[in-house]
Parts: sequence; structure tokens; C-alpha cells
Amino acid sequence: AKEQYHEFVVQEASVTRLCRQRSIMTVNGQFPGPTVEMSEGDSLIVRVINRGRYNVTVHWHGVRQMRTGWADGPEYVTQCPIRPGGSYTYRFTVAGQEGTLWWHAHSSWLRATVYGALIIRPRAGVAAYPFNYFNPPAKEEIPILLGEWWDMNPIDVVRTATRTGAAPNVSDALTVNGQPGDLYGSCSSKDTATFAVKSGETNLLRFINAALNTELFVSLAGHTMTVVGADASYTKPYSTTVLMIAPGQTTDVLVTFDQPPGKYYLAARAYASAQGVPFDTTTTTAIFDYGVGVGGGGSSSTTTPAMPTLPAYNDTAAATAFTTSLRGLRKAELPSKVDESLFFTVGVGLFNCSAGQSCGGPNNTRFAASINNVSFVLPSTVSILQAHYSSQGGAEQQGSVFTADFPANPPVQFDYTAQNVSRALWQPVPGTKVYKLKYGAGVQVVLQGTNIFAGENHPIHIHGYDFYVLAQGFGNFDAAKDSLSFNLDDPPMRNTVAVPVNGWAVIRFVADNPGVWLMHCHLDVHITWGLAMAFLVEDGVGELQSLQAPPPDLPIC
Ligand code: C2O
Repeated sequence: AKEQYHEFVVQEASVTRLCRQRSIMTVNGQFPGPTVEMSEGDSLIVRVINRGRYNVTVHWHGVRQMRTGWADGPEYVTQCPIRPGGSYTYRFTVAGQEGTLWWHAHSSWLRATVYGALIIRPRAGVAAYPFNYFNPPAKEEIPILLGEWWDMNPIDVVRTATRTGAAPNVSDALTVNGQPGDLYGSCSSKDTATFAVKSGETNLLRFINAALNTELFVSLAGHTMTVVGADASYTKPYSTTVLMIAPGQTTDVLVTFDQPPGKYYLAARAYASAQGVPFDTTTTTAIFDYGVGVGGGGSSSTTTPAMPTLPAYNDTAAATAFTTSLRGLRKAELPSKVDESLFFTVGVGLFNCSAGQSCGGPNNTRFAASINNVSFVLPSTVSILQAHYSSQGGAEQQGSVFTADFPANPPVQFDYTAQNVSRALWQPVPGTKVYKLKYGAGVQVVLQGTNIFAGENHPIHIHGYDFYVLAQGFGNFDAAKDSLSFNLDDPPMRNTVAVPVNGWAVIRFVADNPGVWLMHCHLDVHITWGLAMAFLVEDGVGELQSLQAPPPDLPIC
């Protein structure tokens, strides 16, 4: 295992997209940011230097961060932000995970442009991809980062929404590797990602949905994709012509380029599950070209590439068919027993507006989102992890920074999938609450979507953990009936689960990583509205089961 050093300078750079020039935040002037490639077991040391004009932190999305919670990155959860002019060095080891993860800013909406791929290969000479039984094996690997572009500065988009209480503007384009593609009018045609491929070869495509607020259907004209991994866990090979990837999720697929030489579009557009909620209706494209490069198929044709057929924006059946087809490659190692059985409602609601506030939401309200009716509020003077570490259990009792009384169940029960339930019954309460877990506890969480304002598919992400997705379904979760459908044999392991619109998903994990771990909807509009909570996992016995000491350069507020 090796140690790698990287320097990430957060700085502005000028880019032109959709015919408009804009100054954006980047890492090292690159957009998307640098790809970090490593072998399983390697350690990363990344010094982040903030030369921009906003506070920033970097999160290593999906990295387990065993005992190194100080390197996880969500601002005010595990660290105070790095101020302009400041720096912080993230140090951690990636062990037991192989595949595709990514990194992104975890401060306001900076991740709109501050993100990049994190590729973890099997240890050379020790391990190998489990899909070498494919014939032919993968020759090339292509990271494909799907994103979202605003003509406006995304920080101003979210600030305006927070001030007014209204929904933020939807994006102006979807992107592949930072490029909108040639369906956005003539000025955009040169901003199209192109991938050179060779006839007969099999490549490994590593998809990352880095979009802020859009779940995506993805398809490649004329070619079948075989999914072999998701969220840096291997899956049983699953062949399909369409992927559904939610923000935060990754999907690794093998594609054999066995079609007549030519150009083929890769296209992605929204899976928009909420009714009556505006979304980016555009389609982003990239081109796979057999004709370029040495040994290509010889076609450098100028003909229009073939376009794939994508499901309709509201095709929940297509989204579900994809997500429920994924299976873990190996037999699951589930917690031996469930010590904590939690039921969390996740959804968007509305705050009553108080005097002096602007009420940009529907019917004189402000948008709010919550888990078990608690709308998460970040602290501002110290991170939750720092408060926990320095108090050794004291501060949470006093409640000066946070309280450890996050509810295990919703305060009231009703038909969660019904719309227009009385808001008196369901008025979100702001709070900084954590749910405490004993080291080693077996945890099951039923994530139940609600339809208070509008039902929607919510990609729920947990920091510091991978979890098994045992089952998902529609309607209200019914323990007696639905536990019969749990897959206890080969459930997929993920770090982000797309909880079906007006439905539920059940996840399980062992609380074996001490620290404070944010759980949230990976649609940034929803985390902005409070769709988040945190688990506080206590230390176990002895040093190896305890959180390490904080690094000396940890930023303070
Ligand atoms: Cu990729 Cu807290 O998120």
C-alpha cells in the first residue's frame, strides 16, 4: 500500500458554457476537478488550500473513513470550514472498497463545480477485478461525471432561495464531464465530451452522478451496458440499456463496442419523480466514436450519431426496474442482530412563515424538509464532531451545540403517502439533533418517503458507512408484510439509496465506525431545506475502536 500526496488549490477559473462566460470555483483551475486514482489500501494526503472567496470543505463521498472522521469533510459536522486564505490537510486510508467514488465540496452549493472522480483499483498483484471472466476483459476505463450547470452563480441561486423561502432555480443544462453537449444549440456543439473507442474492445465506464438536484436516466445508443459495481461495491453482472443514477451514486458498467463503426450518443436526462415540481428538462449528450485514434474502426464520418431511447421523465417503473435489479456480488455479511430498529420519514414540507420573513413558498410558507419532522440545522461556532470530542459526552447533555434526542420514530403516524394532510399534524421543527449509537450496534433504518408537499424519490446518503439495501417498495411500509421481502442473501451494498417516490427502502449496517456521521438527501435543494440528521457513534473498547485525535491543523470557526 502506498501513500499519495495531492495539493488541491480551490480557486476561480473562467469558463464558457452555453455561450456565456462565467467565473467558477474549481480545484487547480480544472473543471471537473482532478481525478484521484489509487489502489485499495492506499492512503491519501490531500492539502486543500483555499484561494477562493467562499468558505469551503472537501468530502470524500463514500470513503468509509474508519476512525478518521476528521477527514470526512461536511462543514460544521466534522470540521469548521476552511476560510479564504486558509488550508487543511485531509489524511485517510481507503481500505476494503473497490470501484468508483468521488470527492466534492461540502459547503453551500459549491459542489456544483467543485467535484472530481476517485477511482479505487484492486491492489496490483494481490487482487483483481472480479469481472475478468468476461471475454474480452476491459481494456480502457472511462470516468464519466454527470453534472448540472447554472448560468447564474450557484451560490447566488441558493442564497436567493434561502432568503425568500422559495424553491431555487432549476439548472440551465445537464453536463457530461463538465460539457453540456450538442443539443443545446449551435454555440454549444463544441462543448461535447467525445470518447474514442475501438471496435471489438470492452471498456469499463465509471459513471458518477454529481448533479446537484437531478436524478438521471442514462443510455448509450446501440449498446448494452453490463453493470458490475455501484458505490464502490461489486454487483452481480446485470445487463441493461438504461441506468438510473441518483445524485451521490456511482455505477460501473462494461460495454463491448461491437456495433458497426460510427458515432453513438451517450445521453442523460432527468428522472423527475415529483409531480408539479419544476426540473431541468434538457438532455445532455456525449459521443462515443469508433473512428478516432489509432486502430479505430476507420469511420470518421460526419453523420449524426445514433440517439438512444430514454425513458420518459416520470417513468418510475423504469427507475425501479433498474434499482431493484442490482444484487451484491457476494453473500451479504449482515449484522448478526438488529439492536436499533429505526423508522425515519424523509420528505419535503413547509414552514409557517414568521413575522419579518419573506414567504416565497406556496400559500405564505417557506419550504422546509425534514427527517421525523426535525428540520436539520447546522451549528455555526464549532462542528458537532469537535463538540462531541471535547466534551466526552458532556456538551450533548447540555445541548449547547447539539442534542442527542433525535427521535427513533416519527412523532405522529398517518398515511405518509397521502397528499394535503393537515399541516397542523406535520409542522417541521428546526433542530440540531443526533441519534446516538453504541459501537458495534446492528442498525436497521426504514426510510419512508412522505408526500406532505410532493412525494419524490430521495437519494439518502450516509457518511462514513456503506449499508445493505434489503428491500424497497411503494406506499406505507408494513413491517409484517414487507419484512417477508427482505433480501438477506445478496442485497446490494451502497452509500446512497434512492428511496422510491411515495414509498420506502430498508437499510442495514453495523455501527463500527466511531464519530459523527451526517445522513442526508443528496439533492442539495433538500439538504438546504433541512433533510438531514446525524448519527453519533460512540467509541468502542480500546484504541482500535475509537476515533483518532483531531489533526493539529483542523480549522476552527
Ligand atoms: Cu456526497 Cu454529504 O455528501
